Amino acid sequence: MVRKDSQSVPGRYIQEHNNRPLDSEFSPDLCEIPIINFSLLANGDEEEQGKLDIACKEWGFFQITDHEVTEKVLHDMKEAEAAFFELPLEEKKKYAMGQNELQGYGQGYVVSQILEWCDLIFLMTLPPKIRNFKHWPVSIPGFKESVENYSTEMHVTEELLANLSLLMGMEEEDLKSLHGEMKQAMRMNYYPLCSRPELVLGISPHSDASTITLLLQDDELTGLQIRHKQNWVPVKPIPNAIVVNIGDALEVWSNGVYESIEHRAVTNEKRSRMSIATFFIPGDEVEIGPLESMVDDKHRPRMYKKIKYLDFLRHYKLDGKAHTDFLKLESG
Ligand code: SIN
Ligand code: FE2
Repeated sequence: MVRKDSQSVPGRYIQEHNNRPLDSEFSPDLCEIPIINFSLLANGDEEEQGKLDIACKEWGFFQITDHEVTEKVLHDMKEAEAAFFELPLEEKKKYAMGQNELQGYGQGYVVSQILEWCDLIFLMTLPPKIRNFKHWPVSIPGFKESVENYSTEMHVTEELLANLSLLMGMEEEDLKSLHGEMKQAMRMNYYPLCSRPELVLGISPHSDASTITLLLQDDELTGLQIRHKQNWVPVKPIPNAIVVNIGDALEVWSNGVYESIEHRAVTNEKRSRMSIATFFIPGDEVEIGPLESMVDDKHRPRMYKKIKYLDFLRHYKLDGKAHTDFLKLESG
């Protein structure tokens, strides 16, 4: 859907009034999402761990700085993504997501027939055996290497999981182990510039089905907005920082203590924006349900039913509703 010069917005992209970006309230007084110093966290700093706990409880989103991922790896990843979206449409279509396929080049999910102002390519990246190179534009020099390097570097997640595991009353390795064979997938997003950004959405409000999502976003343009206290709060880019959010699987495991927050992406009229979301997800057969350490019959009764992750994914629809709602127990 690259339409760099277009001045008009086709009707099928125009959102209902109540969903349009500028119709929603935004209070500029709201502070920015928490920032966590990754290197302090990795060194066992208790204050930083406390900040992580509060970030997950009160925001469901935070940015990490001082992580180990080099600027080169981040830069190469962004270049690889840009090279793909710059290909002529006919070329990109060679990697298209077919019917009933999960991976490949395509367009955003359609919510109530209204299209999203976004092009995307979705790839399963880890473990290596689940990669389907049919959908990888390997003809772009360096694409495969850049994505593989970036994918490997996203193991910073393991440090986050280890800290969360301790905060959830378990041993460091437990949260990771619960995933069975943990999978990693990437969604690369391209939002063309839009002459009427107030009418469209790049991605409609949704929560992620993952345990944790890491997002690499444009260094300057703000596009991501998160729900916080009934407002849409923009996530201002910090160059080289990585945005982290809690997904539905962690919300369920934590018995709702950590929330999977609704978010969306808006477009702008200055230039196109790109982002890369890396999802960490449990194995298909893994059962997700509140962990014993997070349930307390008196103060925090069990909130969700258990479900096999694959069955959870089958319920996962990008319809703007909280995706964990159907798991909620009456008494919860
Ligand atoms: C998302 O992946 O949900 C939003 C990505 C973005 O900020 O572009
Ligand atoms: Fe998302």
